[in-house]
Amino acid sequence: MTTVSSAEPTRRDFLYIATGAVGAIGAAATLVPLLAQMNPDASTVAAGAPVDIDLAPIAEGQIVKVFWRSKPIFIFHRTKKEIDEAKNVDVNSLPDPESDAERTKPGHEQWLVVIGICTHLGCIPLAHQGEYGGWFCPCHGSQYDTAGRIRKGPAPRNLALPPYTFLSDTKIRIGEESAKTA
Ligand code: FES
Repeated sequence: MTTVSSAEPTRRDFLYIATGAVGAIGAAATLVPLLAQMNPDASTVAAGAPVDIDLAPIAEGQIVKVFWRSKPIFIFHRTKKEIDEAKNVDVNSLPDPESDAERTKPGHEQWLVVIGICTHLGCIPLAHQGEYGGWFCPCHGSQYDTAGRIRKGPAPRNLALPPYTFLSDTKIRIGEESAKTA
């Protein structure tokens, strides 16, 4: 499978961040390689509470996975090239037409946050794989671009966007759409 690489030296940059629930002020995310056990924080999952994610440890080009309400959430710190690729697409040519701006937050276009569940039959796509620099679903071959939009394969829709908000330039809260930025 073709790997569209980013600025990262390795594609094994796919990390799982265990997060603290809201209220854990300044909770440091713990970076654990994906290949390690992927157990979400049980209490957070059980509570279904919003989670705060510190973005500072996520390098440009990196995609990390966190869990919110038992769902995998991908957080993609996009490079300029990856942003440009997402923007330089004829939106009307897409199976599920959405502009890059519609899928990111104003002033934070380097960050893409999507629910990591393939919109075909629910597999978890693989990051930094496929022909479009985003995700490749190993189940039936759907491919998503650097904005998480479906580009090829049987999936009917783009990767869904979770509700989230920026608390600061380096912190987001997943599970709340309307919180004010700090
Ligand atoms: S579940 Fe992803 S392509 Fe079928």
